[in-house]
Amino acid sequence: MAGTGLFRTKSIEKSIADTEEPEHALKKSLSALDLTVFGVGVIIGTGIFVLTGKVAKENAGPAVSLAFVAAGVACALAALCYAEFACTVPVAGSAYTFSYASLGELPAWTIGWDLVLEFALGTAVVAVGWSGYVRSLMDNAGWHLPDALGGREGADGFGFDILAAALVLVLTAILVLGMKLSARVTSVVVAIKVTVVLIVIIAGAFFIKSENYKPFIPKAQPQKAGGSLQAPLIELMSGYAPTNFGVMGIFTAASVVFFAFIGFDIVATAAEETKNPQRDMPRGILGSLFICTALYVAVSIVVTGMQHYSELSIDAPLADAFKATGHPFYAGVISFGAAVGLTTVCMILLLGQTRVFFAMSRDGLLPRFFSRVHPKFRTPHRPTILLGGIIAILAGFTSLSELAELVNIGTLFAFVIVAISVIILRRTRPDLHRAFRTPLVPWVPILSVAASLWLMLNLPAETWLRFGIWMVIGFVVYFLYGRSHSRIDVE
Ligand code: ALA
Repeated sequence: MAGTGLFRTKSIEKSIADTEEPEHALKKSLSALDLTVFGVGVIIGTGIFVLTGKVAKENAGPAVSLAFVAAGVACALAALCYAEFACTVPVAGSAYTFSYASLGELPAWTIGWDLVLEFALGTAVVAVGWSGYVRSLMDNAGWHLPDALGGREGADGFGFDILAAALVLVLTAILVLGMKLSARVTSVVVAIKVTVVLIVIIAGAFFIKSENYKPFIPKAQPQKAGGSLQAPLIELMSGYAPTNFGVMGIFTAASVVFFAFIGFDIVATAAEETKNPQRDMPRGILGSLFICTALYVAVSIVVTGMQHYSELSIDAPLADAFKATGHPFYAGVISFGAAVGLTTVCMILLLGQTRVFFAMSRDGLLPRFFSRVHPKFRTPHRPTILLGGIIAILAGFTSLSELAELVNIGTLFAFVIVAISVIILRRTRPDLHRAFRTPLVPWVPILSVAASLWLMLNLPAETWLRFGIWMVIGFVVYFLYGRSHSRIDVE
């Protein structure tokens, strides 16, 4: 242990030793390929399948592809920082563990609490998106769920998304039974999802009409009055009237489609379950991020070329662009692939979530009860079941878009802390072996902080407010429980 009080740090050696106590040890079974599949499995999801249409229509027009580039650059910078940490501290818990080793207990708590928000709400968002696609497929087959058990929009009074909740519960059971099963299921589903994305790109390219790209960056337009809390914070701070479209619209869009990249950081949460984290982690993280960025840019160029941005659908833009150009068969295949693909996204977000909770509990910041692994399956079954249950209820009762923005702000905040941690740990522990080193330190981490903060500032003011409230609740829990129960002094 080093430092004192709120900024005491947990040594890297202690973090690694903790993972070797038999009753708290996870099974080491993942390879670089598993990690890449894992990464692609969680990264491609609601972001590209759903949000592309919404931001093209409301914020960026065909320039949504530039928004993907901007968000991808911010993620690549963060990934370079994540990869160094994941190699140096191969312990479950991602940014939480990294910051415990470098910044101290309070910052670590802050980030852990923040990641719980990211993963839990992210799981709920994706489950609701999945349910929408499944309902659309069921409608095609002539089966209709009652409104009160489907989407909440349009239903009066009580509404519970039973499909979303059921998905979360089934995935919880799979995770309790063990990593290996879930990794196998994941690879099949990822193959289907990537195939569908390639179909969109290759088949869609034949239906592009160049006039749909005019104008590529639509002219800035004033936002509707009355929604100042919904305007990006940066525009409110700078005193200009908030606008949609134009160059600023690209950044607003980037701060939303950022959701499409969430997941590469989760690859880092599986470090403890990786056979050779020093070699495989950077490959897994950077590899999956690169593949996804290329696919997103291609998909968004194709889709905005197939249909004028003002006509894109908000619910299922990729499938509907094919319907609009008279190709319903492709639309059906894409809807099916999206519905199948979103299951892995949901599962891996849920996995990342339980692993962070597990790591915080193992350190005593949350009750230790949650970090006893199952004697037979060797999985952290208690947090998995508890959180799976809560998320199922959340997914049943909550709606999508605002939650996605809240997930984004939480994730970007984590990126800022990770990048700062890289710089600090280089100074405080230059001796540590780093199989992967972030290039050009401190410049790459500094650029990563700047890019993440920039995207955060492009999110609506009300998202900042909600995020602030969640973090205040976290501090209360830390000062009432975590601080006094921390196991950092138990050597
Ligand atoms: N990146 C994931 C998605 O787009 C979370 O659904």
